[in-house]
Amino acid sequence: MRLNWRYVRNLCIVGLQWGDEGKGKIVDYYADGFQAVVRYNGGSNAGHTIVINGRTFVFHLLPSGSLKRKRLLIGPGVALDPITLDEELGMIAKEGGQADLMVDDRCTLVTPLEKEMDSFVERLRGSNAIGTTKRGIGPAYAMRALRLTPRAGDLEKGEFDLASAVSFCKSFLREIPDLDQWKEKSRQVLAGRTGDVGGEVMKLNEAGHSVMFEGAQGALLDLIFGTYPFVTGAHTIASYVPAGLGIPNRALGDVMGVVKAYTTRVGGGPFPTEIHDETGEVIRREGKEYGATTGRPRRVGWLDLVGLKYAVRLNGASELALTKMDILTRVREMKVCVRYSVGGEETGDFSRALPRLAEAKPVYQDMPSLYGLELSENHLPRAAEQLVEFLEAELRVKVTLVSTGEERSATIQRHA
Ligand code: IMP
Ligand code: MG
Repeated sequence: MRLNWRYVRNLCIVGLQWGDEGKGKIVDYYADGFQAVVRYNGGSNAGHTIVINGRTFVFHLLPSGSLKRKRLLIGPGVALDPITLDEELGMIAKEGGQADLMVDDRCTLVTPLEKEMDSFVERLRGSNAIGTTKRGIGPAYAMRALRLTPRAGDLEKGEFDLASAVSFCKSFLREIPDLDQWKEKSRQVLAGRTGDVGGEVMKLNEAGHSVMFEGAQGALLDLIFGTYPFVTGAHTIASYVPAGLGIPNRALGDVMGVVKAYTTRVGGGPFPTEIHDETGEVIRREGKEYGATTGRPRRVGWLDLVGLKYAVRLNGASELALTKMDILTRVREMKVCVRYSVGGEETGDFSRALPRLAEAKPVYQDMPSLYGLELSENHLPRAAEQLVEFLEAELRVKVTLVSTGEERSATIQRHA
């Protein structure tokens, strides 16, 4: 059967900052229109938070469609920690559900070796530490490139010998963690759950069902295009969907970029719009800006249009979701970075500033304060609408959704 693309509308949800844009909520919000939700990158370094009737759920590996009983797919580009997966499957079971999950048999596995390596390499870096989540993600992709780590399917079939990986790690690790138990447990978790995820996506599309791709982290953490070396070990931009899943480019469908109404970053690295005063404290506290995976306080800053323009381009975002706007109603000041001043020149070009980003000084435009505004109505107050329209004009992309609170119901659709 030939695929009639007019009847399927796949959608990719990606972060346009340094992660933690609120993608989990957006994926959950839109999940109804889709048959399956697919994770295509990263691993359990991600922390996707969903709040339902006052209860908070955090997923690191399972796609955020989990609570809507969608078909859940984990693609070959994911670095998979079977133990974390098991915990999350347990979480779904406790809610009385049963995850309808397929893991690609080409997924790179994260073993206890890679977690040890993660800490080891961070220690080596000393004061230049990246501040990784220590989930072994970077090392797992590195071991993949060295062809030393098993894939999900290899483990399930019992075909992969970890001896070379162990010998390699013995050359720098003082202690080698026990792998037998891990192997046994992981095999059980993966049993009967592996398959060809790209093939599954195409089958769903051929049957007329749309699929959602859920990005992890954000554009500025991309291994190639982000603020290297302060990035994650994977590709975070939308073009990795087709490459990482083994599906044609046009199957990517629409790209929705998720932007938080301010910026956060967790871990080290340059952050031109970082706020160091009381306002930053208020945003952190009100926005609950603490890592969903590590609990670390997130660094907080103003919205940065220079980074966002670059991220919109990298992802080809055709629409935007603006999240956590309610948090800005708790601070009196409101401004947006429109350019950087770096090396004696002003620029709006992120790539140009990137080599000297640590020295870049933000040039701000003041915006009407959102302080004390009530955002619970179905339309935005004038000052909030002005901010949204300013973003649309600068980024040349429509903001189709504004999130004004944690709950599903606190969501305003625009340009419907
Ligand atoms: P890694 O991905 O654990 O190697 O960490 C590399 C960098 O990416 C660190 O600065 C982490 O804090 C950051 N990072 C990784 N995953 C996420 C995420 O899901 N949200 C925000 N930051 C992340
Ligand atoms: Mg997160």
